[in-house]
Amino acid sequence: MSATPSNNPLKPHPMMPGLTHDEMSEQMFVADFKAFIGSDIEPSQRDVVNNKVLPEMTARTGAKPASHIEVGKELAKEGSYQNWALLTRTAQEMMWDSAGTCVDRQLEDLKSLADVKAPKGSLTVDPNFEVPRYIDAVDIHCMPGNYHAVVGENDVRQGALFDRAAAIYHMGRNGGFMNDIRGHTVMAHYFARFSDKTLNRKDARILDIGCTVGHSTLAVASYAPLAETHAIDVGEGLLRYAYARAEHLGYGIHFSQQNAEQTNFPDNHFDLVFSSAVLHETSRKALPRIMAECRRILKPGGVLIHLEVPAKYESLDTWGRIRGDYEISYNNEPFWRGALTSDFGELVRAAGFKDVQTGYQDAVNKAVPGAGGFGDVHKGVHRCWFMVSGVK
Ligand SMILES: C[S@@+](CC[C@H](N)C(=O)[O-])C[C@H]1O[C@@H](n2cnc3c(N)ncnc32)[C@H](O)[C@@H]1O
Repeated sequence: MSATPSNNPLKPHPMMPGLTHDEMSEQMFVADFKAFIGSDIEPSQRDVVNNKVLPEMTARTGAKPASHIEVGKELAKEGSYQNWALLTRTAQEMMWDSAGTCVDRQLEDLKSLADVKAPKGSLTVDPNFEVPRYIDAVDIHCMPGNYHAVVGENDVRQGALFDRAAAIYHMGRNGGFMNDIRGHTVMAHYFARFSDKTLNRKDARILDIGCTVGHSTLAVASYAPLAETHAIDVGEGLLRYAYARAEHLGYGIHFSQQNAEQTNFPDNHFDLVFSSAVLHETSRKALPRIMAECRRILKPGGVLIHLEVPAKYESLDTWGRIRGDYEISYNNEPFWRGALTSDFGELVRAAGFKDVQTGYQDAVNKAVPGAGGFGDVHKGVHRCWFMVSGVK
């Protein structure tokens, strides 16, 4: 059995950077500031688009604008948009600053804690690892140092930074300080589609690709304590933190620094390969390679599940598309539009998978066999996640 996370918000698990009074106050302010911008300021942007910018453009040219890109250029001249964009970017930078300050204050202590005695799992880093260009090009989500900066020997900084900031960013909507609702939702999808294939066996193997600090890895592993669970990502500090976090929470997971496009796992090795919110941070070239690699390392009959951001491009109105473009330009999410317009079902089919389905899985904090919750209806952000799954 794995350890239960502590209920102490200052220290929900041993690796989570602790907070002084002032750090907690600052981070709570940032979370409230983000919530205020999202709920009180952002909705008015849709009104500015629909009731001002679009009618004015239509009146001027005699025709509706051909695309949201033209509308976005006009909207960018509006003071209210400029204010919203400035506040949104500022709040994001404040989030990383506030998390970074508290991490740096205790970095050496966190490194010591990461020196795990008698581990159940393992950590393998590759000193020659080449970070893919689509990760390396910009600091994704404006996270200083991105997923892979390394600060000194036995580093854990980017992992600690990500974990602390994720607690602010998700504002409790992704499983509190464990941030594991996406992982439970992956398993809910597994139960909804593949309940006949049990994973809790000694000879079963599971792989999480793009695990970051293991938020979803541990959730999935909790349903199959007998199985051998592996997790890969690109950053040494991220993975060392993930490994130590898992060990302190009682999980033996095998973390390794690998590119999901080409891993060192043998053919026909895994029963389940999954990812959670990874594909939108790759590239159009990488996607088919990742799908092909997943197929190579899955056993015949093995299951592939990718969880992704729920909004599909076709379902977005003009403001929704402009909002997506903000992520590309000002939150360093270069592949955002590419992901929302990709046909993930077709990509998985083209890689040779059978029985491929796409749809939305209800977000849950505990997956229950037989509960279903998978269908065509998009119930809203954080209420469901987009899923594509198939069988080798
Ligand atoms: C948004 S985070 C994923 C969050 C995590 N899966 C979870 O559910 O908590 C995206 C992660 O994918 C990783 N990633 C992107 N491309 C990758 C690749 N080719 N190989 C391995 N990891 C990759 C990034 O380094 C990053 O840690």
